[in-house]
Amino acid sequence: MRMYDIILKKRNGKELTAGEIQYFIAGYNAGEIPDYQASALLMAIYFQGLGDRETADLTMAIRDSGEQADLSAIPGIKVDKHSTGGVGDKTTLVLVPLVAAAGVPVAKMSGRGLGHTGGTVDKLESIPGFNVTLEPAQFIDQVRRIGVAVVAQTGHLAPADKKLYALRDVTATVDSIPLIASSVMSKKLASGADAIVLDVKVGSGAFMRDTQSAFKLAQTMVAIGSRVGRRTVALITDMDQPLGFAIGNALEVKEAIDTLKGQGPGDLLELCLSLGAAMLLLAGKAESTAEGRAKLLTLLESGQALQKFIEFITAQGGDPRVAWEDGILPAAEFTADVPALASGYIQGINAEAIGRSVMLLGAGRENIDSRIDLSVGIVLKKKVGDPVKQGEALAVTHANSKERLEQARELVRSAYRIGEIKPPPARLVLGTVPEMF
Ligand code: URA
Repeated sequence: MRMYDIILKKRNGKELTAGEIQYFIAGYNAGEIPDYQASALLMAIYFQGLGDRETADLTMAIRDSGEQADLSAIPGIKVDKHSTGGVGDKTTLVLVPLVAAAGVPVAKMSGRGLGHTGGTVDKLESIPGFNVTLEPAQFIDQVRRIGVAVVAQTGHLAPADKKLYALRDVTATVDSIPLIASSVMSKKLASGADAIVLDVKVGSGAFMRDTQSAFKLAQTMVAIGSRVGRRTVALITDMDQPLGFAIGNALEVKEAIDTLKGQGPGDLLELCLSLGAAMLLLAGKAESTAEGRAKLLTLLESGQALQKFIEFITAQGGDPRVAWEDGILPAAEFTADVPALASGYIQGINAEAIGRSVMLLGAGRENIDSRIDLSVGIVLKKKVGDPVKQGEALAVTHANSKERLEQARELVRSAYRIGEIKPPPARLVLGTVPEMF
């Protein structure tokens, strides 16, 4: 087999065989296929696409490039959740203890963030003492004991994805549906859960900017799951404005804790209930979405979900006082309001611009090796549809540098659109792609 022939075949719009796809991934992962040939194939895939069978073969080849977690020692149906990424998305921090309190075993491996804010493990690291690197045996043991553990995904899981993603990032081939789908699903399959709930984001703060592409991505990932025998469902959810109010690592942890106490933002709670109910259905812990939501609400209201969070934080070495005391999480040195320049109603908040402003403050990573500042970020005071008076705060910026604070304030101000007419309420869950049998 020759890489040249594989590139030529895809360039001419032909279907690749499973063998050809495996040859490419194994060769690239081993350093035997050079970046320039891999880039050419990625660009050919970008323009010609991949069929469902080819996408599933690519996913499995990436999954097989490294280790695969074995969760079989944990009794019960392990359900994982994955978001394609958005601004202020802290659902995992709420969902993990919430569904664990409902009896769903959660053995989660999460990535670090690249871009606007950190990933789940970065956010968890803002809790003093929290340890995201457990030995595999400790990880399994903790889930068996308390029903939940979250660790940083190691480089041994789907290593070909890491190499491919870095190449896609510099060759303008990130936003290809089959490439995104195989990248996400290869890691989910390698991390060993029995079933997967996907949160596919759409809007100004997401990879997918229009609903049609988001549905296509969701369908592609659900189809991969069913082809390889993992029950998979997807929810398509709004990311046209940030989720909740807080954006930034420690600020998001605080908001997640507030949500577990029943004092969080409505959109975050609603999303957690929708995703959580889907997880309970797949785990066999609810017969219907309505029953799942009711169960989760009871666990929140009774304080059992918060109790599970405290148990989980403590088990991984984190300071549990974070759940009831102020001053435990890192805090930024300076804060400043972003006042509205006009009165009216908030028509829109460009999530991408808010994402860029928290990057500017230092909450996100420019590249894989960047250090992130866990204390900085933005807390929105107004969301789409809210009335606002001139001079009232739209948001509060939290910064450790006065210069960056000013730059971020300007960006945040420009992200808001204010108009005279109250816009219709935005829908949060735009649709579902059910599992395929
Ligand atoms: N997230 C991933 O893991 N991979 C992609 O390609 C895009 C988003």
